[in-house]
Amino acid sequence: MSIRQFQASRMHAPRNFHVINNETICVEIGAGKGKHALLFCGENPDKKLFAIERTREKSDAMHKQHQIEGQANLTTINADAIPWVVHALYPKQVEQFFILYPNPEPHNRAQRWLNMPFFEFLLSRLQEKGQITLASNIPEYIEEAEQQLQTVWNLPYQKQVIAADSARTHFEIKYLQRGELCQQLIIEKPENYQTRFDDFMPLNGENCQSKTSESTHEQ
Ligand SMILES: C[S@@+](CC[C@H](N)C(=O)[O-])C[C@H]1O[C@@H](n2cnc3c(N)ncnc32)[C@H](O)[C@@H]1O
Repeated sequence: MSIRQFQASRMHAPRNFHVINNETICVEIGAGKGKHALLFCGENPDKKLFAIERTREKSDAMHKQHQIEGQANLTTINADAIPWVVHALYPKQVEQFFILYPNPEPHNRAQRWLNMPFFEFLLSRLQEKGQITLASNIPEYIEEAEQQLQTVWNLPYQKQVIAADSARTHFEIKYLQRGELCQQLIIEKPENYQTRFDDFMPLNGENCQSKTSESTHEQ
């Protein structure tokens, strides 16, 4: 891989970080107000989902709705997903990641998920044959991600058009109502795929003196 190596061991733990068990889970990054997370958990009672949202206001809305609906298989977390993933997740633990309508970062494309060195770390947390669902309303974002999958990450994927009546997230509803083309890539990790983080164990809350404002909702 030609991408520089992510500095995982330098990541400070999110405030009020909680260690999680090493069991098969799904993870949603940038879950917003949690519409997809709540739906997914209702439809998949046998799966556990951790839904991470950095913005406090949105995370609070997700948490509030979760308290009303009460899905036992959902954990909502207010944190930056990057340090949370480094501190919480075990190698090959995750069955499925969801990244639905990420910020397009038009002025800082290096911050797009597949352009970041962190993406290699994320891949190390994915099970073999595990999947990442990446959705966007910006065709150029999807095209750039495809390019990265082919040239940097060497990963197979399927490209799909999202049906006009799909309503998984608040942003998806908004974009489809505006008549925009929404697409997703279903990225699969092949067997024997290797990263430089395959032996990196979760930091589990080391480096706790972070001054960031993230916190975990008590479950
Ligand atoms: C455009 S919104 C989409 C929200 C939701 N997925 C939807 O489709 O309605 C992108 C979300 O990702 C969140 N986000 C961006 N970077 C993040 C990060 N590093 N960790 C956690 N959340 C992040 C933002 O706060 C924002 O709520």
